[in-house]
Amino acid sequence: MKRALVTGANRGIGLAIARGLADAGHTVLVGARDRRASQKAADQVGGIPLQLDVSDKASIAQAVEAAGPVDILVNNAGILGSGSVLKGPQDFEDSMQVMVHGPYHLMRLLTPHMVDQGFGRIVNVSSGWGAFSDGVEGPGAYGVAKAALNALTVSAARSLPGSVKVNAMCPGWVRTRMGGMGATRSPEEGADTAIWLATLPDDGPTGGFFRDREAIDW
Ligand SMILES: NC(=O)c1ccc[n+]([C@@H]2O[C@H](COP(=O)([O-])OP(=O)(O)OC[C@H]3O[C@@H](n4cnc5c(N)ncnc54)[C@H](OP(=O)(O)O)[C@@H]3O)[C@@H](O)[C@H]2O)c1
Repeated sequence: MKRALVTGANRGIGLAIARGLADAGHTVLVGARDRRASQKAADQVGGIPLQLDVSDKASIAQAVEAAGPVDILVNNAGILGSGSVLKGPQDFEDSMQVMVHGPYHLMRLLTPHMVDQGFGRIVNVSSGWGAFSDGVEGPGAYGVAKAALNALTVSAARSLPGSVKVNAMCPGWVRTRMGGMGATRSPEEGADTAIWLATLPDDGPTGGFFRDREAIDW
């Protein structure tokens, strides 16, 4: 049984990842920026609530302190901006905070324990819109932030021992507040590859980008 922290776990794909990991027998720290939302989701999945605003360095430091040792980190929290990237400076700042800086600081603070114990799994929930092979699309700064998260995945995997695996994934188009109700996949389907990466065996991949448990182009 491992100890997993999932960010943005109060709804959508994050909630499905938290539920999947809890159902698999792991202890899940249910991260959410709203304390009550975190408690409610933790009650739903049988996890431990953890207040965590990934755009706030002080909140990250407090949450890491409160969480204790973490074996699995799933950087799931995300926001979708709108409009043209160069016309939305606040959206750019927010997107980078939530989807790049937050994951970076969580990885920075949580990986020393993973390295020391010789086990760690990090899953960065990215998007096909963050792929250069797909044109770095999406509204506002979304694609730019996800491309940066992909780059962080490659760079962090290179700097860590193979026992601490860092992978990025795309959940596909999922029926959540972000994806909309017309999307083709359920949150559980969107969560599947993240759960697989979070529980990889020792000979599993690191530094890759996956959808439907298959490697995809950056
Ligand atoms: N849905 C799709 O089709 C799709 C496709 C590709 C990739 N993704 C990625 O999948 C991940 C989950 O998306 P989703 O579809 O489940 O979206 P969602 O339903 O909109 O959920 C987003 C989650 O992120 C949280 N969040 C946002 N800002 C945060 C912050 N500063 N600190 C902590 N949590 C924060 C939200 O919390 P609040 O409730 O407090 O707002 C919420 O729990 C995202 O990274 C998204 O980019 C989704």
